[in-house]
Amino acid sequence: MCELKNIKTFQKNLIQWYETNGRDLPWRHTKDPYAIWVSEIMLQQTQVDTVKPYYLRFLETLPDIQSLANADEDVAFKLWEGLGYYRRVRHMQEAARQIMEKYDGIFPEKYDDILTLKGIGNYTASAVSSIAFGQEKGVIDGNTLRILSRIYNRQDNIALEKTKKAYQILMDQLIQGCDPSKFNQGMMDLGAGVCTPRKPDCEHCPVKDCCEAFASGTAGILPVNIKNTSKADIYYITAILKKDNKYLLIKNKEGLLQNLYGFVQYEVESPVSFEETFYDNYGISVRLYEYCKEIKHVFSHRIWHMNVYIGEIMNPESELKDHDIPLYSEDELAELPISTAHRKVYDLR
Ligand code: ADE
Repeated sequence: MCELKNIKTFQKNLIQWYETNGRDLPWRHTKDPYAIWVSEIMLQQTQVDTVKPYYLRFLETLPDIQSLANADEDVAFKLWEGLGYYRRVRHMQEAARQIMEKYDGIFPEKYDDILTLKGIGNYTASAVSSIAFGQEKGVIDGNTLRILSRIYNRQDNIALEKTKKAYQILMDQLIQGCDPSKFNQGMMDLGAGVCTPRKPDCEHCPVKDCCEAFASGTAGILPVNIKNTSKADIYYITAILKKDNKYLLIKNKEGLLQNLYGFVQYEVESPVSFEETFYDNYGISVRLYEYCKEIKHVFSHRIWHMNVYIGEIMNPESELKDHDIPLYSEDELAELPISTAHRKVYDLR
């Protein structure tokens, strides 16, 4: 275990290294809690390089809490299109409205208050409170769990909740008495570039002298990370339904892709069952006439197998409005927020 004098050395070496070797990222040029919150939500499930342009565009269009709270939901979703995990943006709008109502539009400073905002868990609350407000809250994620497991040479399975809880305590000890923003972001960068999952670059590590795994030669086999990776496979028939040069897309009212637009798909076993199910739902006849291919899309807990067909809507256009069948031209479609899975379908047409 690190003793107190080692903790000071650990902090000093990490922060000095971060000051010269840390990544220059757009959200590191601000102390605005709103901007830092946006970056942390985007970074929850998305790589740094992917996030950069989305972050800049999002802040340009919606520069503050008020503009996000008041934004049309299609505009907010369009800004998120392609980032995935769309409930993040829906929760952000809800949180922005919570801040408007409960905190007069001012981002709350207290960790416990931040944690009450929609879509914010321990990691994001710690990141925002340490980076924007200088609070001593350590961030726990895959990077920091790996680093701690090596520093303390511990065999605990980091996939388990109880390990995360125990490591949160260690992390909160390690962060005491230094610059919390630099400490946390130094840990993130150390995990991203030096203390990597495979082949850690221990020779160039600024904290190797405090690292028990380095001393024992065990860094390469830590951490223990054994997950149950079972994902549910779902098989859909997905139809690109056309009427003249327009396409039928439906806005999802619930589920994984709530608020995003997509083609109609059902968990049915044949194109004929698709046609029957569609008729049962809408009272409109469609005919699927061409098979395109299977598109596979992987979510965190699910794999969609989308068997894509092209089909025609048989009823005249004048009858469609009464049946809640919205049709979009190619130009209109380009403006809609569409999930990545359904963009892949769209590209087949
Ligand atoms: N991942 C999550 N938060 C981050 C940050 N502030 N900088 C770099 N990567 C991150």
